[in-house]
Amino acid sequence: MTFTIAIDGPAAAGKGTLSRQIAEVYGFHHLDTGLTYRATAKALLDAGLPLDDEAIAAEIALGLDLSGLNREVLAKHEIGEAASRVAVMPAVRRALVEAQRAFAVREPGTVLDGRDIGTVVCPLAPVKLYVTASAQVRARRRYEEIVATGGAADYDAVFADVKKRDERDMGRRDSPLKPAEDAHLLDTSEMGIEAAFQAAKSIVDAALNK
Ligand code: CDP
Ligand code: CDP
Repeated sequence: MTFTIAIDGPAAAGKGTLSRQIAEVYGFHHLDTGLTYRATAKALLDAGLPLDDEAIAAEIALGLDLSGLNREVLAKHEIGEAASRVAVMPAVRRALVEAQRAFAVREPGTVLDGRDIGTVVCPLAPVKLYVTASAQVRARRRYEEIVATGGAADYDAVFADVKKRDERDMGRRDSPLKPAEDAHLLDTSEMGIEAAFQAAKSIVDAALNK
């Protein structure tokens, strides 16, 4: 039997960083499910297709190859923004959730991070973490990331984007972002990367030793 760790939370909470660390320490496979929404959005943008035609977007989502996902290629801000628009359409979600579930059963274990892993994709996962931080802290992290990679950014604009993304992700009808009832809450507002990793690791260790 495989062992699945579900990690959810809002944009720039630290899900990706934590998921990569956890996957590495346990030798588990990792899937950043945000990339599946980003890749669908990018394929539509590249082909000049509309972002809000559910049938077209679902067809792209059905044809997606999970092995070709690359965070660097999909990192652009506009792609993240388009991804959150594509992600409101139920037919797109159905296609991507199916691919994510197929990934989740890989042996010996998997870590999936996103918005609806603990609530929809893997509701039976033995470990669920809801990673969060205040909108100010998350916007500051995003801002610093942009500056560190040589980009120009305005903190107030980044903050407004984070708030807008939160509203879209938490407010949509299909699979809104919210903690699963049995999720462990991890607020990293005042936590560095190592402290968050140690806190998560002790939760996973306890579940593995049950
Ligand atoms: O995947 P998600 O959008 O939730 O966040 P991330 O890409 O893992 O982290 C966003 C940024 O915050 C990265 O630059 C991390 O290095 C940073 N971070 C942090 O400063 N403190 C943490 N506890 C977690 C992440
Ligand atoms: O890196 P960041 O946290 O900003 O976003 P992401 O994880 O790359 O996800 C991009 C968008 O895809 C999110 O804003 C969500 O709207 C959507 N998404 C989703 O709906 N469900 C998931 N499991 C993962 C992402």
